[in-house]
Parts: sequence; structure tokens; C-alpha cells
Amino acid sequence: AGVFTYDPGFTSTASCDSTITFIDGDKGELLHRGYPIDQLAEKSHYLEVCYLLLYGELPSAAELEKFENTITRHTMLHEQMQYFFRGFRRDAHPMATMVGVVGAMSAFYHDSTDIADPHQREIASHRLIAKMPTIAAWAYKYSIGQPFVYPRNDLSYAANFLHMCFSVPAEDYHVDPILSRAMDRIFTLHADHEQNASTSTVRLASSSGANPFACIAAGIACLWGPAHGGANQACLEMLKEIGTPDKIPEYIARAKDKNDPFRLMGFGHRVYKNHDPRATVMKKSADEVLDLLGVENNPILATAKALEEAALKDDYFAEKKLFPNVDFYSGIILEAMGFPTSMFTPIFALSRTVGWVSQWKEMLNDPQNKIGRPRQLYLGSTTRDYTDIENR
Ligand code: CMC
Repeated sequence: AGVFTYDPGFTSTASCDSTITFIDGDKGELLHRGYPIDQLAEKSHYLEVCYLLLYGELPSAAELEKFENTITRHTMLHEQMQYFFRGFRRDAHPMATMVGVVGAMSAFYHDSTDIADPHQREIASHRLIAKMPTIAAWAYKYSIGQPFVYPRNDLSYAANFLHMCFSVPAEDYHVDPILSRAMDRIFTLHADHEQNASTSTVRLASSSGANPFACIAAGIACLWGPAHGGANQACLEMLKEIGTPDKIPEYIARAKDKNDPFRLMGFGHRVYKNHDPRATVMKKSADEVLDLLGVENNPILATAKALEEAALKDDYFAEKKLFPNVDFYSGIILEAMGFPTSMFTPIFALSRTVGWVSQWKEMLNDPQNKIGRPRQLYLGSTTRDYTDIENR
């Protein structure tokens, strides 16, 4: 027996202490190790933010160079892992492939499943950050029937990912620096977000002593859902379904109707009740990319802009404090870059890997770390005697 707090959805339960990420949902503030996300998105880049999240401080030039070299050394996948990809149906969702392949890393890199050894923990975190773009890109290549493209370590983290997704052996492929900057910004804006559902899943899985690849696979599985990372895919599919701005009132009415399960995807957030600071940066980036690609008249963007405007003017959304979140704009950029909607959530997963890994490392170093074991409010039957089958 004992007294428990009943808190469905953990809306008021702190599950850990952490020094990594701070969010003030009322102010619309997001800090990594104290640095505001808009400054990081503007002035820094993804691998530097990875270092910051993992080690707590911005790196010196020498530290950054060493870190980048370490990450690039781990970008290749064990050659035999190709059989894993090939075992999936071509039409498998790339998130399904990622859950499987990342879980299977436990079998290919078992030296770094030894979580008692800090050196192996370090290698596991580097391997995950380095290999995730290769895994996501190969899941995509496999789904479209093109050859796997090996990583190129002379390219930046973001440019290499675009290269592995969009180049083919038969042709030269040049990554436009504006596109790789936009890609890098998407990675940076998704890098960590304190104790969200997938990060809490990683921590809960890890609390039992499970190996890092199994824990991150659990995080990827949780991220997949449309209320979490799957919202970017759902949002773009919704914009395509709406099609033209004149259909917006119909969809807004549906979102407000309590008898209709439809929600405006890309709107609302559990913690941000004013604005999502990531969405502000992402919106700017979307404009840049669309300018570059010469698709200002893109009907999806026109619908997105009109929807944003209509929802922000609507009392229902104002009263419930529902604003566009990060997923609202990231989908538009990814669509313009040529990614199919099924790749949106894998890109979120690869960006968030550093957050999961940083939180996992922090947790293992925490002397208060113990197995996560929520209690429940039992509403079932009281004790009763077993009835033999012939008497039921
Ligand atoms: N459209 C219409 N109504 C909404 C929406 C929406 N997008 N979001 C919330 N509401 C309503 C909801 O019906 C509820 O109304 P009432 O109080 O009358 O029952 C009220 O607002 C509060 O909603 P909630 O579901 O209790 O709030 P929550 O904190 O549990 O949910 C959320 C947060 C993000 C799951 C939700 O806003 C949502 O489903 N949004 C759409 C999906 C989405 O964009 N998710 C991405 C989140 S950001 C990236 C990430 O975390 O991965």
C-alpha cells in the first residue's frame, strides 16, 4: 500500500533532474545548457550543438575539430547490416525500418552495449549520432529501389545526409549550401526537448539497464506517433488534403467540433502555451528555401499561410492557446527539398538522437538513477474465486 499521485499523461510529474534543456512554455523559451535556441539555430550548427548537449559547454575550435573527426569516423554501417534493410518489404515505412535497424545495432556493435564502461558508453553515443543519417538515408534509398549511397566524410553532417538521400552513382550531385544550411537547421531545432514522450521512453527503457541501441530504438518507436514526431508527416498530408485556401473554414470547423476527432496537425503543444520558439526560426527558414527553389507560389505553402492566419484569428485556438508548432513549418521545407512525407519523421528521429543520447548519459551518471516503475489506480474487479469452465 502507499499513497500515490494520480497524474495521467504526467502533466505535473517531474521524472528526473536534468541540466541539459530548459523550457518556459509561457514565455516560449527553449534553452540548451542555457543558450537560447534561436541563437544556436542562427550562429551555431548541428554538430556543435551535439557537443554542447553531450558535454555541457560549447567546444573550443580544437575540441570541435576532434569531435567532428570522431563522428565522421563512425558514419559507415557494418556492411552486413545491408541484409537487414533488404529483409524489409520495399513499401515498409522508413520509421519501421529504423526501429528494426537501430535495435539490431545491439547485435553488430555489442562491444558498446557494455553500459558499465564509460568509454564504451561514449563510443555508443558517437556511433548512434554518426550512423543515424546513414540508417535514415538507406531506409529511404531502399524504399525507392535505388542503390545505397555510402557516407562522404568530406561533407558536413547535413550535406552528407542530403548526398546519401539524393545522389545516385550514375551522376554528379552537388549539395546547395542554402539547402544544407536549412537541413542543418532542422537538425538543430529538433536536437533536444527535455522530457517529451520519446525521451522519457528512452530514459524508462534505460532505467532497467537495457543497452543504448535498444533504448534508442524504443525512443524511435515512440516518436513515430502522430501526436509526437509523426505530426510533421500528418501535417503535410493534412495541408495536401485541404488543398486550397478556400477549404480552410471547413477544416477549422472540424477541428473545433468535439464530435469530430480531427485536429489541426502542427498546432498546439503540451508545454508551449504562447509560441513555439522553434517554429519562429523554422518559418524564416521555410521562406528562404522556398525562395531559393523558386516555389513561392507553391499551393501547399499558400494553404499553410492561410491556415496559420485563420487559426490565429479564431477564438477557439486563442482560448486554448494553440499556436503553430515546429512541425508545421518543417514539413514545408522537407517537401520543397524533395523528401516524401514518409521521411519527415525519420529526419526528426535522426535529429533527436543526440538529445536521447545526452539524456541517457546524464541518467546513467545520476546517483539517484533507479528503475522507473509508475504505479496505477486499479479500477478492476475485487478478489473473486476462479470459476470452472463448465460453470461459466
Ligand atoms: N486542433 C484542435 N484542437 C486541439 C488541438 C489541435 N491541434 N490541440 C489541442 N486541441 C484542443 C483539445 O481538443 C483540447 O480541448 P478540450 O479542452 O476542449 O478538450 C485542448 O485543446 C487541450 O488539448 P489536449 O489534447 O488536452 O492537450 P495536450 O497537451 O494533451 O496535447 C498535443 C498536446 C500536441 C498532443 C495536441 O495539441 C495535438 O494533438 N496537436 C496536434 C498534433 C501535433 O501537432 N503534435 C506535435 C507536437 S510538437 C512536436 C512534438 O512534440 O513531437
